Parts: sequence; C-alpha cells; structure tokens
Amino acid sequence: MSKQSFYLTTPIYYVNDIPHIGHSYTTIAADVLARYKRARNFDVFFLTGTDEHGQKIQKAAHACNKSPLEFVNDVVEKFKTLWDDLNISYNDFIRTTEERHCRRVKKIFQKILENGDIYLGEYEGWYCIPCESFWIESQLKEKKCPECNRPVERVKEKNYFFRLSKYQKRLLEYYDKHPSFVQPESRRNELLQRIKSQIEDVSISRSAVEWGIPVPSDPTHTIYVWIDALLNYITALGYDDDLQLFQTYWPASVHIIGKEILWFHGVIWPAILMSLKIDLPFKIFAHGWWTVEGQKISKSLGNAIDPHKIIQSYGTDAYRYFLLREVPFGLDGNFSYSALIHRINSDLSNDLGNLLQRTLTMIEKYFQGIIPEVSRADDELSGASRVTHDAMEREMDKLQFSRSLEIIWEFIGRTNKFIEDKKPWSLAKTSATRPQLSTVIGTLAQAIKDISVFIYPFMPTTAAEIQRQLGIIENNQTPRLEFQQSFQKGVIIRKGKPLFPRIEPV
Ligand code: MSP
Repeated sequence: MSKQSFYLTTPIYYVNDIPHIGHSYTTIAADVLARYKRARNFDVFFLTGTDEHGQKIQKAAHACNKSPLEFVNDVVEKFKTLWDDLNISYNDFIRTTEERHCRRVKKIFQKILENGDIYLGEYEGWYCIPCESFWIESQLKEKKCPECNRPVERVKEKNYFFRLSKYQKRLLEYYDKHPSFVQPESRRNELLQRIKSQIEDVSISRSAVEWGIPVPSDPTHTIYVWIDALLNYITALGYDDDLQLFQTYWPASVHIIGKEILWFHGVIWPAILMSLKIDLPFKIFAHGWWTVEGQKISKSLGNAIDPHKIIQSYGTDAYRYFLLREVPFGLDGNFSYSALIHRINSDLSNDLGNLLQRTLTMIEKYFQGIIPEVSRADDELSGASRVTHDAMEREMDKLQFSRSLEIIWEFIGRTNKFIEDKKPWSLAKTSATRPQLSTVIGTLAQAIKDISVFIYPFMPTTAAEIQRQLGIIENNQTPRLEFQQSFQKGVIIRKGKPLFPRIEPV
C-alpha cells in the first residue's frame, strides 16, 4: 500500500540577520511533527528555506557594504548550520534567489495577470520595512506600524494590485466549510472578523525596490516580497513546470507559522491559490511569540539570543525539549535560563535520566547486565504505555506538543513509581521471588524502550542514546521506533554516562 503523503512547511526566514530562538522554535516544532509523522509511516515532505528579496534585505546588505547576493549568501549559511546543529530533518531548503523559484514565480505572476486578477493602480499609504508590509493610515497605531511598533515610511507609487476583495465571499465560505483551516481557534475568529470588515485589493509590486523578481511584463517593477515568498510553498514542489512533487504532496498538510504573519497566510495566500485554481492547504497553525527574560526579542535591545549559545551549554535535545514543553503550542511564552535549567534538572535529569540509570544499575546488579526475558510483562505498566501511546497520538495530531510531552512524562512518573511499588531490591533477596524480579525488571526495560519511542520526535539523539545503553542499537544507529516490541533473548546493556547531568542553578 502506498504511504499517505504529509507536506509541512515553516515560514521562509528573512536573511537580514542571523537566526534567533524565535526562528528556531518554528523550525523545531516542524521537525518534531515531521519526525513524528515519518515514524507513523507517512511519506513526509518537510520544506523550509529563506526569504531573500525585498527592501529590508537590500538595506541590510547596503549597511554592510555588500551586494545583496553576497550578503544573503553569507547569512543563509548561518541558518543552514543552525538547522544542522538542531538536528532538523528537512527534505528541501528553498532560497527565493534560486533560479527554480524566480522562474516559476514569474510564470505564476503572469498567469494571475492573465486571469484578470492583477491590475495597475496607484498606491498611496505607508510601508513598514521590517515587516515588509503596506498599511493604510487608519491601521497605524500612533503613526507607527501596528505589528512591530516601528516607524513607517510614506509610499506613493504606481503598483500592480491583486484583486483580493473579489475573493472575500469565497474566503468566508471556505472558512465556514472548513472550521479547522486556521488554528488555534481564537486566531481563526480574529481573522474571520478582519476578513468580514476589512478586505481591500493589495499592492503586489514595488517600483522603488530593485532587489526582487522583476514583473515579467513590466521589469520596471519587482514583485512584492510577500507574494514572491508565499509562492515558495508551491515553487519548491515544481509548480508548474515539473509537477511530480506537486502532485504527490500538494495540498500542504500544514503551514506552521508565527501569529504575526497570519493575514498573509490565512487570507492573501488562499486568495492567490483560488485565483490559480489550486486547492487550499489543509491547515495553517499560527503559534505564539517568545519573549526573552520578559522582553520582546529585538535587535535594538540586543537580546536576540543565538541558539548556538544555548545548545553549546545545555545540548540540542534539552533545548528542543524546553521550547516545546514550556509553552502550549499557540500561546506566547517567555525564555529564561532559570526556567530552562529547572526543566533540565527536574524533567530530564531527575525523572528521565534517573529512571534509565537506576534500571540499568539493577540489570547489572541482579542480571549480570543482561535484560531478563519476560513471558508476560506487567499488565499495569504495559497497559499504561499503550494508553500513553494513544493519548500522545491524539495530541500530536492536534499539534499540541506540550500536552504530548506532559502525557509522556506522566508515564515516566508512573514508571518511576512502579519501581517504588514493586521494590525490586526486596524481590532480589530470595530465590523464591526471582521470577517476579525478572518480570519487574524486564517490564521496566520495555517501558524505557517505549519511552525512547515516545520522545524520539522531540529528542532524537536522546532516544538513540537510551536505546544504545539498553543494548538495542549500536553507536550511530538510528533508533528503532516499533512500539511495544519485546526484547530478543540475551540483550546486553551498555550503561553509560547519565543522560542529563544536573546543572547548578544560575
Ligand atoms: N519572510 C517572512 C515569512 C515568509 S513565509 C512565506 C518572515 N520572516 S521572519 O524571518 O521574520 O520569520 C518570521 C517567523 O519566525 C515567524 O512567523 C515565527 O515563525 C518566527 N519568529 C520570529 N520571531 C519570533 C518570536 N519572537 N517568537 C516565536 N517565533 C518567532 O516573516
């Protein structure tokens, strides 16, 4: 049977600056979902990339005395290196300066023009360069950008417009028929109100910006960077001159984005797809924003932490775990070193790390390092594992990562309690209770193997290390992801260093 396809995307990031924890959050969340779906046997295509055109990049390059292309080539490498260091398993990385993208964007623009959905008009209003967004007077807040609160500049130029207003009715119908198209629901409702009250045609070219893809029929204009960027989701699949990937993976299963770019994804993007007569993505999930030690992440405050700094001190898996455990996906959160250290010490070192250590110690002590065979695992613990598996699955399908981890940790807690309740040290005292001891320890090893399967999407390296110490896989092998599969006879453990040594609080 052919596998079901699952296409997921991150936003493509601006390369005006190096990535910070906010960017890493979206990409890690997408990676967790991609790994989870692959483990569930889906044919996953995970796309990420970089948004390299527009005024903001042009300005940043100019400030460094570099050509825009030289400039973006340097920054892109920083993103790629970070994704490697964070263990991001993307299938493709698209850069909007690539020929494949530019060629297809031009063709698509022309197609929309020929459909009659693009016309030449005059734009007069405001523009926020950091957000690359047009604003009309009434949208400004105290004369500043309503999104980022930074100064805006006055723009008056001849531009091409996209007939967004024409799609108002169809968008509303679509939202009505597909209640879970945009999530979380509160954001969907906000967006819906805005579609009902405020939908105007949008400017989709800039005559004053050179660093962009030229409008094919009028090269005195470049295509507005947001249109160029949104199209990446289909140009990366070959739309529309090499349709093999497109036919396999489109419509996207989910676009994961931050809440500030929901208007582009939930309104402009669907309208463009409608104009092109292409199916809409199944879901758009807008997550919340991180602050750092209580403050908005900003260049001027200088608090945009480089994730490398965190992973060098605390490790990639601890960082991945923290970001997804700390805040329910969809809500805002705050990063602080003290919260990170607290999570590492309590959840990772104490709950998970100790469970593995003490179990392996008992296997060494009572069974000469060989996992005892069990004819029948303890029902209570193996039953709880099955319940955990199903509950986690339900939450993962809703992108509720933090809730999934909570459920896994309840099971870890239960497994630790199983040791306290069964008291293997007492069972080891007489040979009469040897069979019970075997069952308890064998069941424990099985539960820990299951835990490694559960945590794999979040902490792939730790999952592999647990299995390596359990003796199931060799060094550098990928973890085995079958759930509740019993051990072969005579598996020899390889107890190693603690998974997460305790950290002294700062
Ligand atoms: N280039 C556009 C997106 C085009 S997608 C077709 C863009 N790029 S960005 O570099 O500004 O990245 C925005 C994304 O980075 C957000 O949507 C979010 O996913 C992530 N984050 C950036 N700062 C963030 C926080 N402080 N907190 C959480 N995520 C944030 O917008």
